Amino acid sequence: MNFETKTKLSADALNDLSFDEFDEVINPKPEDSDFDAIVEEAISRRGFLGGVLAMGGVATLGVTSTSLTPIAAQAADSRFGFKAVAASVEDTIIVPEGYNWHVATSWGDPLFSDVPEFDHATRGTAASQARAFGDNNDGMAIFTDKDGHQILVANNEYTNRSVMWGNNPDGKFVTDDDINKGKNAHGLTAAELKEVDGKWQIVKDSPYNRRFTPDEPMDITGPARGHDLMKTNADPDGVTALGTFNNCGNGRTPWGTYLACEENFNGYFGTADADGYVQDDAKKRYGVSGNDRGYGWWKVDDRFDVAKDPNESNRHGYITEVDPYDPTSKPKKRTALGRFKHENAEVVVNADGRIAIYMGDDERGEFLYRYVSDGFYAEGGDTDDLMENGTIYAAKFHADGTGEWLALTPDSTGMDKAMICIHTRMAASAVGATTMDRPEWVTANPLKAEVYCALTNNKNRGIKTNAGGDETPVGGPNPREANNYGQIVRWWPSNGDHTADTFRWDLFVMAGNPTVHTDAYGGSRNVNEGNMFNSPDGLAFDNKGLLWIQTDGNYSNEEDFAGQGNNQMLIGDPATGEIRRFLVGPREAEITGVAWSADRRTVFVGVQHPGERGDSHWPDGGDKTPRSSIVAVRRDDGAAIG
Ligand code: FEO
Ligand code: CA
Ligand code: CA
Ligand code: CA
Repeated sequence: MNFETKTKLSADALNDLSFDEFDEVINPKPEDSDFDAIVEEAISRRGFLGGVLAMGGVATLGVTSTSLTPIAAQAADSRFGFKAVAASVEDTIIVPEGYNWHVATSWGDPLFSDVPEFDHATRGTAASQARAFGDNNDGMAIFTDKDGHQILVANNEYTNRSVMWGNNPDGKFVTDDDINKGKNAHGLTAAELKEVDGKWQIVKDSPYNRRFTPDEPMDITGPARGHDLMKTNADPDGVTALGTFNNCGNGRTPWGTYLACEENFNGYFGTADADGYVQDDAKKRYGVSGNDRGYGWWKVDDRFDVAKDPNESNRHGYITEVDPYDPTSKPKKRTALGRFKHENAEVVVNADGRIAIYMGDDERGEFLYRYVSDGFYAEGGDTDDLMENGTIYAAKFHADGTGEWLALTPDSTGMDKAMICIHTRMAASAVGATTMDRPEWVTANPLKAEVYCALTNNKNRGIKTNAGGDETPVGGPNPREANNYGQIVRWWPSNGDHTADTFRWDLFVMAGNPTVHTDAYGGSRNVNEGNMFNSPDGLAFDNKGLLWIQTDGNYSNEEDFAGQGNNQMLIGDPATGEIRRFLVGPREAEITGVAWSADRRTVFVGVQHPGERGDSHWPDGGDKTPRSSIVAVRRDDGAAIG
């Protein structure tokens, strides 16, 4: 049986299926399908291929980690130092024995003493929200000044209408102030944190406290600055954008700045004038339509009306650099890093001093990117050019376990430099990069030249093209059709050089459910009943070279996801492949964002959108409004974590 043939047949047949039938097809059971041989071979190879699960002779993966030994749950020689926690569906945080947690800050916490505490009945106003911790915290980082003050910078990715406006009859905005409250809950929050009576909290009125809302002025820098596509009614020169929003993962630079990464920016643009808006190919590729996701911004702010200001959407989808140490600094939108649905930005200083930045584009069938600076980083030197002049590359993975970075240049794409930065997806399509299963966070091992990326899931794999019409064949690092569980790919730059054109790769883990499936959907050999999960998303290495894995997946705890419970955080050991569950979140939440205190005795973990469907009152309990929060996790003995 040829896997490619099967894919084609399925793609044709799938058009007529109901959802139930569809589910059956995407998870073929061995007795029902004729690709038993592939499954059998895959399973038989689980014992010695490290994280790799090879798919027969059709989509054979690179076999590069044969030194890995089989995984025992709770291996005695593990480097983890904690006992795994069980899956849970409780509406709380669960951490291992010997650890404790508390909430450090939540949506609506005031940054200044003249702002009222969060009001569960009204959920605040546009004015209070603009000076309080934003909603739906995601990526974050902690910076420490010379006097030891610790500054949290966190993305406030988006809002859930039913939570933001849950005090209204049907969970929708009624007034303009409702809309502006939601708008002001987006962006970034900077806040000094400190431990008071053993618990972390915001230092009200700290000079570092600051909100960056969707109205904050920012310099547009790099090749797209001043381009015709960047010019709007309010900014005819195309040099100053207002705001950043829908920032998902983050990055931090070695020179002490924060990188906010704009992801699903398209969902904020709408219009009542359907005839007045023309959706060209580029707008279609980026999903900018006349319909927003129900935020209503275009009703109160003309720049979000795509008929009135068709170029405003071209000014979002970038990476924004923020200086947390200077509260008066103006953020910079770094167009040189490209425009797509950015997940995070992992900055690596290469051995020769050049900067490599790894970046995922989180949409089904989109690409994995790398940026390489022209200039060289020197500690204390001028860094402004490093994210201005450089080259963007897109990854191409080969089935034999090798891969290459394809440079996006005027020659290779037929686009000029500015257009490559504005329509980066189209540039990557032009060079034939590999369509991926939704690249989420990328993280680089601090101890060796290896890089990991979470490919969260992709129900369209092998079934539908991406929005640009690129095929999404099953194979390589995307080995499962209608991939509902996700996987983590890793690669080793040739010669340990992060600027090299080539790399080797394999899969560290394929998530799955071995209690439901005995085929490839059961997961790779380092997945078992005690650590199974779906939809890896957040990834971060700690100082010891252990890989922290956060999930944003299906928390139904049923059928394909039976036994996996709420979203969670696990820790993986790159050397052995072992994965152990460290934390489980409350109901209907995603676990996303991780950062360490200066002394590394606290690890801060982000809990996003608890109760997004109405079944959580975390963290305040009772009948209280659920609130996205950052929790502080520590060991009872006060030792460092990670
Ligand atoms: Fe906002 Fe890709 O998750
Ligand atoms: Ca998120
Ligand atoms: Ca994410
Ligand atoms: Ca996700």
